Amino acid sequence: MSKGGFDHYMLKEIHEQPEAIRDTVAESLLGPATAGTSSPVGYLPVRDPDAVLLLGCGTSYHAALMGEQILSQLLTVPVTARVASEFQKPAVKAEQGLVVAFSQSGETSDTLTALRRILGQGYASLGVTNVMGSSITRAVDATLYTRAGPEVAVASTKTFLCQLVTLYLLGFHLATDRDAVSIIPQNLQVLPDLVRQVLSRDSAIQQAVRQLTKAEHIFIIGKGLGVPIALEGALKFKEVAYLPTEGYPAGELKHGPFALLGEKTPVIAMVLADEHRSRMITSIKEIKARGSTVIAIADRGDGEVAEFADMVLPVPKTDPLLAPVLHNVVLQLMSYYCARKLGCPIDRPRNLAKSVTVP
Ligand code: M6R
Repeated sequence: MSKGGFDHYMLKEIHEQPEAIRDTVAESLLGPATAGTSSPVGYLPVRDPDAVLLLGCGTSYHAALMGEQILSQLLTVPVTARVASEFQKPAVKAEQGLVVAFSQSGETSDTLTALRRILGQGYASLGVTNVMGSSITRAVDATLYTRAGPEVAVASTKTFLCQLVTLYLLGFHLATDRDAVSIIPQNLQVLPDLVRQVLSRDSAIQQAVRQLTKAEHIFIIGKGLGVPIALEGALKFKEVAYLPTEGYPAGELKHGPFALLGEKTPVIAMVLADEHRSRMITSIKEIKARGSTVIAIADRGDGEVAEFADMVLPVPKTDPLLAPVLHNVVLQLMSYYCARKLGCPIDRPRNLAKSVTVP
Protein backbone atom coordinates (compact mmCIF):
# COMPACT_ATOMS: atom_id res chain seq x y z
CA MET A 1 0.00 0.00 0.00
CA SER A 2 1.39 3.43 -0.91
CA LYS A 3 2.18 6.17 1.58
CA GLY A 4 0.35 8.63 -0.67
CA GLY A 5 3.16 11.17 -0.65
CA PHE A 6 3.62 11.13 3.14
CA ASP A 7 6.92 10.10 4.74
CA HIS A 8 5.26 7.55 7.01
CA TYR A 9 2.05 5.58 7.19
CA MET A 10 1.39 7.07 10.62
CA LEU A 11 1.27 10.60 9.19
CA LYS A 12 -0.80 9.45 6.21
CA GLU A 13 -3.28 7.76 8.55
CA ILE A 14 -3.49 10.84 10.80
CA HIS A 15 -4.37 12.85 7.69
CA GLU A 16 -6.99 10.31 6.62
CA GLN A 17 -9.02 10.95 9.76
CA PRO A 18 -11.57 13.42 8.35
CA GLU A 19 -12.70 10.85 5.76
CA ALA A 20 -12.54 8.00 8.27
CA ILE A 21 -14.81 9.91 10.65
CA ARG A 22 -17.23 10.78 7.85
CA ASP A 23 -17.46 7.15 6.70
CA THR A 24 -17.89 5.81 10.24
CA VAL A 25 -20.69 8.29 10.93
CA ALA A 26 -22.40 7.19 7.72
CA GLU A 27 -22.00 3.52 8.68
CA SER A 28 -23.48 3.97 12.11
CA LEU A 29 -26.33 6.28 11.24
CA LEU A 30 -27.34 4.94 7.85
CA GLY A 31 -25.13 1.94 7.16
CA PRO A 32 -25.86 -1.59 6.04
CA ALA A 33 -26.38 -2.89 9.56
CA THR A 34 -29.46 -0.71 9.91
CA ALA A 35 -30.82 -1.27 6.42
CA GLY A 36 -34.32 -2.61 6.42
CA THR A 37 -35.10 -1.33 9.90
CA SER A 38 -36.93 1.84 10.68
CA SER A 39 -34.98 2.37 13.87
CA PRO A 40 -31.43 3.75 13.94
CA VAL A 41 -30.67 1.28 16.76
CA GLY A 42 -31.40 -1.65 14.45
CA TYR A 43 -27.96 -3.19 14.86
CA LEU A 44 -27.83 -3.17 18.63
CA PRO A 45 -28.27 -6.59 20.21
CA VAL A 46 -30.11 -4.98 23.18
CA ARG A 47 -31.95 -1.69 23.01
CA ASP A 48 -32.48 -0.91 26.65
CA PRO A 49 -29.51 -2.39 28.57
CA ASP A 50 -29.50 -2.39 32.37
CA ALA A 51 -25.67 -2.20 32.44
CA VAL A 52 -22.93 -1.51 29.90
CA LEU A 53 -19.43 -3.00 30.04
CA LEU A 54 -16.71 -1.74 27.69
CA LEU A 55 -13.58 -3.81 26.99
CA GLY A 56 -10.36 -3.30 25.05
CA CYS A 57 -6.55 -3.35 25.26
CA GLY A 58 -4.05 -0.54 24.66
CA THR A 59 -5.53 2.21 22.54
CA SER A 60 -8.82 0.32 22.34
CA TYR A 61 -8.93 0.34 26.15
CA HIS A 62 -8.54 4.11 26.07
CA ALA A 63 -11.56 4.22 23.77
CA ALA A 64 -13.42 2.11 26.35
CA LEU A 65 -12.40 4.59 29.10
CA MET A 66 -13.74 7.45 27.00
CA GLY A 67 -16.91 5.43 26.53
CA GLU A 68 -17.29 5.04 30.28
CA GLN A 69 -17.42 8.81 30.63
CA ILE A 70 -19.41 9.63 27.48
CA LEU A 71 -22.06 6.97 28.04
CA SER A 72 -22.27 7.69 31.78
CA GLN A 73 -23.20 11.27 30.86
CA LEU A 74 -25.91 10.12 28.46
CA LEU A 75 -27.37 6.96 30.04
CA THR A 76 -28.86 6.29 33.45
CA VAL A 77 -27.47 2.73 33.84
CA PRO A 78 -24.03 1.80 35.18
CA VAL A 79 -21.30 1.97 32.54
CA THR A 80 -17.89 0.44 33.29
CA ALA A 81 -14.69 0.19 31.26
CA ARG A 82 -12.25 -2.63 31.96
CA VAL A 83 -8.88 -3.44 30.49
CA ALA A 84 -9.46 -6.75 28.73
CA SER A 85 -6.10 -8.28 29.70
CA GLU A 86 -7.08 -8.06 33.40
CA PHE A 87 -10.77 -8.86 33.10
CA GLN A 88 -12.15 -11.71 35.20
CA LYS A 89 -15.81 -10.93 35.83
CA PRO A 90 -18.16 -7.93 35.62
CA ALA A 91 -18.55 -5.70 38.66
CA VAL A 92 -22.23 -5.22 37.85
CA LYS A 93 -24.74 -8.09 37.58
CA ALA A 94 -27.03 -7.62 34.61
CA GLU A 95 -30.20 -9.24 33.32
CA GLN A 96 -29.91 -7.66 29.92
CA GLY A 97 -26.54 -5.95 29.85
CA LEU A 98 -24.51 -4.91 26.85
CA VAL A 99 -20.82 -5.67 26.53
CA VAL A 100 -18.98 -3.70 23.85
CA ALA A 101 -15.57 -5.06 22.83
CA PHE A 102 -13.29 -2.62 21.01
CA SER A 103 -10.53 -4.00 18.80
CA GLN A 104 -9.08 -2.45 15.69
CA SER A 105 -7.82 -5.81 14.42
CA GLY A 106 -10.58 -7.92 15.90
CA GLU A 107 -7.85 -10.46 16.71
CA THR A 108 -6.46 -9.38 20.09
CA SER A 109 -6.25 -12.50 22.18
CA ASP A 110 -6.80 -10.77 25.54
CA THR A 111 -9.94 -9.03 24.26
CA LEU A 112 -11.36 -12.25 22.84
CA THR A 113 -10.66 -14.09 26.11
CA ALA A 114 -12.37 -11.36 28.17
CA LEU A 115 -15.34 -11.42 25.83
CA ARG A 116 -15.71 -15.18 26.17
CA ARG A 117 -15.61 -14.83 29.97
CA ILE A 118 -18.66 -12.57 29.97
CA LEU A 119 -20.80 -14.34 27.41
CA GLY A 120 -23.65 -16.22 29.05
CA GLN A 121 -23.64 -13.90 32.09
CA GLY A 122 -26.60 -11.73 31.10
CA TYR A 123 -24.73 -9.56 28.61
CA ALA A 124 -25.48 -9.34 24.87
CA SER A 125 -22.38 -8.48 22.89
CA LEU A 126 -21.38 -5.88 20.35
CA GLY A 127 -17.98 -5.84 18.65
CA VAL A 128 -16.50 -2.59 17.37
CA THR A 129 -13.77 -3.43 14.88
CA ASN A 130 -12.08 -2.20 11.74
CA VAL A 131 -11.54 -5.59 10.12
CA MET A 132 -14.36 -7.41 8.36
CA GLY A 133 -14.73 -11.06 9.22
CA SER A 134 -12.13 -10.86 12.04
CA SER A 135 -12.37 -13.29 14.99
CA ILE A 136 -14.25 -10.81 17.14
CA THR A 137 -17.08 -10.60 14.61
CA ARG A 138 -17.66 -14.35 15.00
CA ALA A 139 -17.69 -14.16 18.81
CA VAL A 140 -20.29 -11.38 19.22
CA ASP A 141 -24.03 -11.00 18.65
CA ALA A 142 -23.58 -7.95 16.42
CA THR A 143 -20.76 -5.92 14.91
CA LEU A 144 -20.36 -2.23 14.32
CA TYR A 145 -17.54 -1.48 11.88
CA THR A 146 -15.26 1.50 12.13
CA ARG A 147 -14.74 2.60 8.53
CA ALA A 148 -11.16 3.80 8.88
CA GLY A 149 -9.75 1.71 6.03
CA PRO A 150 -6.55 -0.32 6.50
CA GLU A 151 -4.26 0.95 9.26
CA VAL A 152 -0.69 -0.04 8.42
CA ALA A 153 1.32 1.83 11.08
CA VAL A 154 1.63 -0.10 14.33
CA ALA A 155 0.41 2.97 16.23
CA SER A 156 -3.38 3.23 16.16
CA THR A 157 -4.54 6.69 15.16
CA LYS A 158 -7.48 6.88 12.79
CA THR A 159 -9.06 3.75 14.23
CA PHE A 160 -9.06 5.33 17.72
CA LEU A 161 -10.90 8.40 16.47
CA CYS A 162 -13.42 6.17 14.71
CA GLN A 163 -13.92 4.17 17.93
CA LEU A 164 -14.75 7.47 19.65
CA VAL A 165 -17.24 8.26 16.89
CA THR A 166 -19.00 4.93 17.47
CA LEU A 167 -19.23 5.82 21.16
CA TYR A 168 -20.93 9.14 20.47
CA LEU A 169 -23.34 7.31 18.19
CA LEU A 170 -23.98 4.55 20.73
CA GLY A 171 -24.79 7.28 23.25
CA PHE A 172 -27.09 8.88 20.72
CA HIS A 173 -28.89 5.61 20.04
CA LEU A 174 -29.12 4.41 23.65
CA ALA A 175 -29.96 7.64 25.49
CA THR A 176 -33.49 7.86 26.80
CA ASP A 177 -33.45 11.67 26.88
CA ARG A 178 -33.68 12.24 23.13
CA ASP A 179 -33.54 16.03 23.43
CA ALA A 180 -30.22 15.89 25.26
CA VAL A 181 -28.55 13.99 22.41
CA SER A 182 -30.30 15.43 19.37
CA ILE A 183 -27.29 17.62 18.59
CA ILE A 184 -24.81 14.71 18.35
CA PRO A 185 -25.38 13.78 14.65
CA GLN A 186 -25.06 17.42 13.58
CA ASN A 187 -21.87 17.85 15.61
CA LEU A 188 -20.43 14.70 14.08
CA GLN A 189 -21.13 15.98 10.59
CA VAL A 190 -18.91 19.03 11.19
CA LEU A 191 -16.20 17.10 13.05
CA PRO A 192 -14.21 16.12 9.91
CA ASP A 193 -13.84 19.77 9.01
CA LEU A 194 -12.65 20.66 12.52
CA VAL A 195 -10.07 17.86 12.36
CA ARG A 196 -8.93 19.23 8.98
CA GLN A 197 -8.39 22.63 10.63
CA VAL A 198 -6.15 21.05 13.28
CA LEU A 199 -4.19 19.17 10.61
CA SER A 200 -3.63 22.34 8.64
CA ARG A 201 -1.76 23.96 11.54
CA ASP A 202 0.89 21.35 12.09
CA SER A 203 3.82 23.77 11.69
CA ALA A 204 3.01 25.22 15.14
CA ILE A 205 3.00 21.68 16.52
CA GLN A 206 6.41 20.97 14.95
CA GLN A 207 7.77 24.08 16.71
CA ALA A 208 6.27 23.06 20.04
CA VAL A 209 7.85 19.62 20.14
CA ARG A 210 11.42 20.91 19.86
CA GLN A 211 11.85 21.07 23.61
CA LEU A 212 10.13 17.74 24.21
CA THR A 213 12.73 15.62 22.45
CA LYS A 214 15.29 16.47 25.14
CA ALA A 215 12.95 15.75 28.03
CA GLU A 216 13.79 13.19 30.69
CA HIS A 217 10.15 12.67 31.45
CA ILE A 218 6.92 14.13 30.04
CA PHE A 219 3.51 14.40 31.66
CA ILE A 220 0.29 14.79 29.72
CA ILE A 221 -2.48 15.90 32.02
CA GLY A 222 -6.22 16.41 31.78
CA LYS A 223 -9.41 16.21 33.79
CA GLY A 224 -12.66 14.40 33.01
CA LEU A 225 -12.76 13.48 29.33
CA GLY A 226 -9.18 14.72 29.09
CA VAL A 227 -7.85 11.82 31.19
CA PRO A 228 -8.31 8.96 28.69
CA ILE A 229 -6.95 11.26 25.96
CA ALA A 230 -3.91 11.97 28.15
CA LEU A 231 -3.36 8.22 28.58
CA GLU A 232 -3.69 7.67 24.83
CA GLY A 233 -1.35 10.55 24.01
CA ALA A 234 1.24 9.18 26.44
CA LEU A 235 1.00 5.73 24.87
CA LYS A 236 1.79 7.28 21.47
CA PHE A 237 4.83 9.19 22.84
CA LYS A 238 6.18 5.97 24.39
CA GLU A 239 5.40 3.80 21.40
CA VAL A 240 6.68 5.87 18.48
CA ALA A 241 9.12 8.34 20.09
CA TYR A 242 10.42 6.10 22.94
CA LEU A 243 9.98 9.07 25.31
CA PRO A 244 9.05 8.22 28.92
CA THR A 245 5.63 9.87 29.08
CA GLU A 246 2.81 9.51 31.58
CA GLY A 247 -0.82 10.39 31.11
CA TYR A 248 -2.14 11.68 34.44
CA PRO A 249 -5.28 13.17 35.98
CA ALA A 250 -4.24 16.79 36.63
CA GLY A 251 -5.42 16.76 40.23
CA GLU A 252 -3.28 13.72 41.05
CA LEU A 253 0.07 15.35 40.29
CA LYS A 254 0.18 16.94 43.75
CA HIS A 255 -0.15 13.49 45.35
CA GLY A 256 3.38 12.44 44.42
CA PRO A 257 4.47 13.27 40.85
CA PHE A 258 5.13 16.92 41.77
CA ALA A 259 8.47 15.55 42.95
CA LEU A 260 9.44 14.94 39.30
CA LEU A 261 8.61 18.44 38.06
CA GLY A 262 11.40 20.77 36.95
CA GLU A 263 13.29 21.93 33.88
CA LYS A 264 13.65 18.48 32.33
CA THR A 265 10.03 17.48 32.82
CA PRO A 266 7.75 19.40 30.47
CA VAL A 267 4.00 19.06 30.89
CA ILE A 268 1.35 19.04 28.17
CA ALA A 269 -1.93 20.29 29.67
CA MET A 270 -5.23 19.69 27.91
CA VAL A 271 -7.68 22.42 28.82
CA LEU A 272 -11.17 21.52 27.67
CA ALA A 273 -13.79 24.29 27.81
CA ASP A 274 -15.91 22.34 30.30
CA GLU A 275 -16.62 22.37 34.04
CA HIS A 276 -12.97 21.43 34.75
CA ARG A 277 -11.42 24.38 32.90
CA SER A 278 -10.65 26.57 35.91
CA ARG A 279 -9.11 23.62 37.84
CA MET A 280 -6.88 22.94 34.84
CA ILE A 281 -5.71 26.55 34.86
CA THR A 282 -4.93 26.22 38.57
CA SER A 283 -2.90 23.08 37.82
CA ILE A 284 -0.95 24.94 35.13
CA LYS A 285 -0.04 27.65 37.66
CA GLU A 286 1.05 25.04 40.23
CA ILE A 287 3.20 23.26 37.65
CA LYS A 288 4.80 26.50 36.44
CA ALA A 289 5.67 27.39 40.02
CA ARG A 290 7.65 24.12 40.23
CA GLY A 291 9.79 24.90 37.20
CA SER A 292 8.27 22.79 34.41
CA THR A 293 7.49 24.17 30.96
CA VAL A 294 3.78 23.91 30.14
CA ILE A 295 2.47 23.44 26.62
CA ALA A 296 -1.30 23.81 26.73
CA ILE A 297 -3.86 22.58 24.23
CA ALA A 298 -6.92 24.81 24.50
CA ASP A 299 -9.72 26.47 22.57
CA ARG A 300 -8.59 29.12 20.13
CA GLY A 301 -8.84 32.56 21.77
CA ASP A 302 -8.63 31.32 25.37
CA GLY A 303 -6.56 34.26 26.65
CA GLU A 304 -6.44 33.07 30.24
CA VAL A 305 -4.68 29.83 29.32
CA ALA A 306 -2.26 31.81 27.11
CA GLU A 307 -1.44 34.03 30.08
CA PHE A 308 -0.17 31.16 32.24
CA ALA A 309 1.14 28.47 29.86
CA ASP A 310 4.49 28.83 28.06
CA MET A 311 2.85 27.98 24.78
CA VAL A 312 -0.68 27.23 23.58
CA LEU A 313 -1.62 24.96 20.70
CA PRO A 314 -5.11 26.11 19.80
CA VAL A 315 -7.97 23.92 18.59
CA PRO A 316 -11.26 25.12 17.05
CA LYS A 317 -14.15 25.59 19.47
CA THR A 318 -16.71 22.79 19.52
CA ASP A 319 -19.06 20.95 21.88
CA PRO A 320 -17.00 19.92 24.98
CA LEU A 321 -18.13 16.32 24.43
CA LEU A 322 -16.37 16.26 21.03
CA ALA A 323 -13.40 18.53 21.80
CA PRO A 324 -11.26 15.64 23.13
CA VAL A 325 -11.11 14.32 19.55
CA LEU A 326 -9.34 17.50 18.45
CA HIS A 327 -6.96 17.41 21.41
CA ASN A 328 -6.11 13.84 20.50
CA VAL A 329 -5.18 14.84 16.95
CA VAL A 330 -2.77 17.45 18.35
CA LEU A 331 -1.16 14.78 20.57
CA GLN A 332 -0.90 12.34 17.66
CA LEU A 333 1.00 14.95 15.65
CA MET A 334 3.19 15.89 18.61
CA SER A 335 4.24 12.26 19.15
CA TYR A 336 4.82 11.81 15.42
CA TYR A 337 7.04 14.89 15.08
CA CYS A 338 9.01 13.99 18.23
CA ALA A 339 9.63 10.52 16.80
CA ARG A 340 10.69 12.01 13.49
CA LYS A 341 13.10 14.42 15.12
CA LEU A 342 14.59 11.57 17.15
CA GLY A 343 14.96 9.35 14.06
CA CYS A 344 12.74 6.56 15.36
CA PRO A 345 11.35 3.84 13.07
CA ILE A 346 7.89 5.37 13.32
CA ASP A 347 5.76 2.85 11.50
CA ARG A 348 7.44 -0.21 13.01
CA PRO A 349 8.51 0.56 16.59
CA ARG A 350 10.88 -1.94 18.15
CA ASN A 351 9.42 -4.95 19.97
CA LEU A 352 5.84 -4.27 18.84
CA ALA A 353 3.41 -5.96 16.47
CA LYS A 354 0.28 -4.45 14.97
CA SER A 355 -1.88 -7.15 16.38
CA VAL A 356 -1.24 -9.11 19.60
CA THR A 357 -2.74 -12.52 19.02
CA VAL A 358 -1.07 -14.27 21.95
CA PRO A 359 -2.20 -14.16 25.60
O1 M6R B 1 -6.35 -4.47 17.50
P1 M6R B 1 -6.64 -3.95 18.88
O2 M6R B 1 -7.33 -2.64 18.87
O3 M6R B 1 -7.38 -4.97 19.71
O4 M6R B 1 -5.22 -3.79 19.54
C1 M6R B 1 -5.07 -3.48 20.90
C2 M6R B 1 -3.72 -2.86 21.18
O5 M6R B 1 -2.69 -3.79 20.95
C3 M6R B 1 -3.49 -1.63 20.30
O6 M6R B 1 -4.53 -0.72 20.49
C4 M6R B 1 -2.16 -0.93 20.63
O7 M6R B 1 -2.16 -0.46 21.94
C5 M6R B 1 -1.97 0.21 19.64
N1 M6R B 1 -1.44 -0.28 18.41
C6 M6R B 1 -1.16 1.32 20.17
O8 M6R B 1 -1.05 2.36 19.22
